[in-house]
Amino acid sequence: MNRCDRTAAWAALQGHYQAHGRGLDLREAFARDAGRFDAFSLQAPEVFADLSKNLIDTATQHFLLDLARECGLEAQRDAMFAGQPVNTTEGRAVLHTALRAPRGAGPHSDDVHGVLDRMLALAEAVRDTAASGFTDVVNIGIGGSDLGPAMVVPALDAYAHRGLRLHFVSNVDGHDLVPVLRGLDAARTLFIVASKTFTTQETLANAHVARAWFLQNGGTDIARHFVAATTNVTAAAAFGITQTFGFWDWVGGRYSLWSAIGLPIAIAVGADNFRALLAGAHAMDTHFATAPLAQNLPAQLGLLDVWYRNFHGFTSRSVAPYHQGLKRLPAYLQQLEMESNGKRVDADGQALPYGTSPVVWGEPGTNGQHAYFQMLHQGTDVIPVEFILVKRPAHTEAGLHAKLLANGLAQSQALMLGKTAEAALAEKAPTASATLDAATLAAHRTFPGNRPSTTLMLDSLTPRSLGALVALYEHRVFTSAAIWGINAFDQWGVELGKALASQLLPRLDSGDVAGLDASTAGLLQRLRD
Ligand code: F6P
Repeated sequence: MNRCDRTAAWAALQGHYQAHGRGLDLREAFARDAGRFDAFSLQAPEVFADLSKNLIDTATQHFLLDLARECGLEAQRDAMFAGQPVNTTEGRAVLHTALRAPRGAGPHSDDVHGVLDRMLALAEAVRDTAASGFTDVVNIGIGGSDLGPAMVVPALDAYAHRGLRLHFVSNVDGHDLVPVLRGLDAARTLFIVASKTFTTQETLANAHVARAWFLQNGGTDIARHFVAATTNVTAAAAFGITQTFGFWDWVGGRYSLWSAIGLPIAIAVGADNFRALLAGAHAMDTHFATAPLAQNLPAQLGLLDVWYRNFHGFTSRSVAPYHQGLKRLPAYLQQLEMESNGKRVDADGQALPYGTSPVVWGEPGTNGQHAYFQMLHQGTDVIPVEFILVKRPAHTEAGLHAKLLANGLAQSQALMLGKTAEAALAEKAPTASATLDAATLAAHRTFPGNRPSTTLMLDSLTPRSLGALVALYEHRVFTSAAIWGINAFDQWGVELGKALASQLLPRLDSGDVAGLDASTAGLLQRLRD
């Protein structure tokens, strides 16, 4: 595999950046080219993408495609789909795509569909609330065993069972679990212990507290009220759980919402909608696997990420879903992107001289507009923004939805157009100081503009379109990882803190600070005072 910074395309991109890229002005580009919107927009399954407000031209795209070819993006993609052990540091295949392949169509199909059928049967039984008696479902899991379902369930609220409340507990903090347990009826509550490894400290600690609460509150049938989603069936059995839905080591934690980890989703929206979620993701898988790179949306977005990170030097990307149901999407994407691509060595263990994962962050619009958009418009750093617009709402308050869409459109327009000092001078701002001189005031009210954004658009937020959107992000992250030559599927960076926490836990009890650094020792003592 060619390391990206040693390819001819990388050198060409550096030259192109110096000659044209850094000076590209979006306003001029649109004025010059009436076809820019059409030329830089793409339709993928369920997702339309407008890339035209990005700092790119046809030459940028051309060189980025060369880069993809020189780095073997297609061969790497094919290796993943074929089940080769592309997660080299753990010697594992990466086959979350198999979880959404139709029956008989993907690797491990019998295993995948066997668990899926069982899990959807349980979901339907729980949803038959007259017979099941359940009113509340508590998912206990963290990271990939929490964020996927916790993101999807509110996103698909329009499809949710109205007689069931879904709760998500992740943090090893009683402030998370205790308010959830308060007000629950043990006899009507189902607990799902979700953990790929079934060794995660936070999840097991919460599961033990939940089980004790259940028994103290008159719960009698643990086998019926506790189920597990895990690859470690033996450990779940040791905990006392007999109903277990398995998955496999070739499903990464942050790619697991399509597996048994999706059980809370299936309970919330039902078997047919869960299958539609899988089908939407599968449609995006097929697009990623087969569309030429020039029309391949995940590939194009991943390449754009490389362009911004390594040539423009942008260190951050903001995600602004203009749909309240997607309020947890930024948190979900943080794990997907930053746990996958937050790596500093290549697959051969060589330290990288170029940047990898950007910081991904955001809030739903319009809330973000009234918080941090100030910085996006007038701060010193350029931060590409990703707007997600949904054409048709699930509610009937048309007036609200039009306002939401107008705001989303306006923000990408404002970022690009900006406001000149002359325009600011010519305006009368009602709240502006009457004593400040006009030129100073105009400087404060000027927007540089030329700030890039992408707009992703869905017709409506359905199980199918959400599945496609999430798979789009997965493959985009894969694309940038493939260019950077990093392993997107391990997460060794979380190990050190876990190990140190285990060592500090008994010290918090005993007060023994021998051998600790002075800061940790001082803090530990203050915590015990
Ligand atoms: O944070 C590290 C991590 O391993 C994530 O990758 C994973 O999603 C999370 O912990 C939870 O792990 P598990 O599902 O094994 O409890």
